[in-house]
Amino acid sequence: MATINKNYKTLQAGYLFSEIAKRTKVFLEKNKDAKVLRLGIGNTTEALPKSVIDGLGLGVSKLANVDTYTGYGDEQGDTRLRAALSTWYKNMGVRIDPLEIFVSDGAKTDSANISSIFGNDNVVAVSDPVYPVYVDSNVIQGRGGEFKNGRYKNIVYLDSLEENGFFPKLPDKKVDLIYICSPNNPTGAVATRDQLKRFVNWALKHKAIIIFDAAYSFFIKDKNLPRSIYEIPGARKCAIEISSFSKWAGFTGVRLGWTIVPMDLITQNSKKGELNAMWNRRQTTMFNGASNIAQEGGLAVLSKKGQRESGEIIDYYMENARLIRVGLEKMGLKVFGGKNAPYIWLKTPNGLSSWEFFDKLLNEARVVGTPGAGFGLLGEGYFRLSAFGHRENVKQAIKSIQENLKI
Ligand SMILES: Cc1ncc(COP(=O)(O)O)c(C=O)c1O
Repeated sequence: MATINKNYKTLQAGYLFSEIAKRTKVFLEKNKDAKVLRLGIGNTTEALPKSVIDGLGLGVSKLANVDTYTGYGDEQGDTRLRAALSTWYKNMGVRIDPLEIFVSDGAKTDSANISSIFGNDNVVAVSDPVYPVYVDSNVIQGRGGEFKNGRYKNIVYLDSLEENGFFPKLPDKKVDLIYICSPNNPTGAVATRDQLKRFVNWALKHKAIIIFDAAYSFFIKDKNLPRSIYEIPGARKCAIEISSFSKWAGFTGVRLGWTIVPMDLITQNSKKGELNAMWNRRQTTMFNGASNIAQEGGLAVLSKKGQRESGEIIDYYMENARLIRVGLEKMGLKVFGGKNAPYIWLKTPNGLSSWEFFDKLLNEARVVGTPGAGFGLLGEGYFRLSAFGHRENVKQAIKSIQENLKI
C-alpha cells in the first residue's frame, strides 16, 4: 500500500503571493478604473541585450543543421560553459576548477535539492527573515519538525535584525547546514567580508557546511563587498555556492544557473572530493542537463560584450532601486538595502504590521509590494519593494506614494 510523504502535511500554505493576489483582486473589483503599480515581485522585466540574443539564436540555429545538432549534453553542463565560469571566477581572484561547477536550470532547483546529499539528521539553520525555499525544501526532507507559533521546531532561526545590518547572528547551538543569502532576498542587505569570515570560521570550527546563495551577487557595485564566498579564506573546505543567470542576465524565463561543490569540501564522515562526487551522482541520476540553447546564451553572457551589456541592464534596475530608496527617504521613511541589491526593505511607519501597511499602500497609493512578515517572524513590521520593473512604472509608483500615502 502506497503512503504519502507526511512531511508535505507540515508545509505551510504558499500564503504570501496568493494572499497578495487575492487582496489586489478585491481592490480592483472595488476600484474598477484604478491602475495598480506593482513593485512586489522579484521578476526581471527588461529585454535581453543583442549579444545575448545572438548567443541564444546561435543555440537555436545549431539545432537546424545536422552537423551542429546536439541532443542530450553532459548532465554537469557544457564543458565550454564550465570553463568560462571558471575563468570568470579566476578574474575575480577566486580559484574554481571547471569540475567543481555543475550547470543547472537555476538556483531555486539547486538550493532546494542540495540538502539531499546531507544526512537527514543534520540540523538546518536559516536567517529570519529568509527566502522560503531553504526552509520548505528541508521540511520536505523531514528536517523541520512540528510547526508552532510561526516556526519549525527543529530548524534553527538566526535573527537578522536591524542592529546586525540584517545579517544573521552566529548560531549559539549545534547546527550542521547553514543557508546564507547575500545580497539578501528580502532585506537587500549584503554581507561584509568580516561578517562572512566569522561564519566561515564558525563552520570550520564546528564542521558545519554553509550553503551560500549568490543569485544577486552581480548587483554588488562596492568593491569592498565579497561577491563569492570563496573570496574568504577557508571557504573551499566548508561552503557550497549556488548562483544564477536569472537576475544577472534576465534569464528568469530562459533558466540557467550553477552550483559549486569544491573538491576540498568535507564533512565529519566524508573525504575530499566525496561531496563533489555525490552531487555529481545526484545530478546524473535526477537531472538531464540544462537546455543547450540556454547554455549557448550563458556563454554569450560571459563574453566581454555580454558582460558589459548585461551589466547595463543591472545598472538600469539599480537606478530604479536608487529612485525608490531616495524617494521614500525623502518622505521620512526608514529604508534599508537597495544599494548593492535590487530589494528595498522598509520599516513600516507608525508601528503598522506588514499586512496593514500592504493594505494602506494599495488603498492610498495603489502600489503593491510584499509584506515582510511573509519571509519569517522577524520580517513583521517590514515591507519589501523590488527594483525590477520599467522605469516609467517605478517613477509613477514613487510619485503616487509621495502624493497619496498618509504617514
Ligand atoms: C535568493 C534567491 N535565490 C534563488 C532564486 C531563484 O533563482 P533561479 O531563477 O535561478 O531559480 C531567487 C529568485 O527570486 C532568489 O530570490
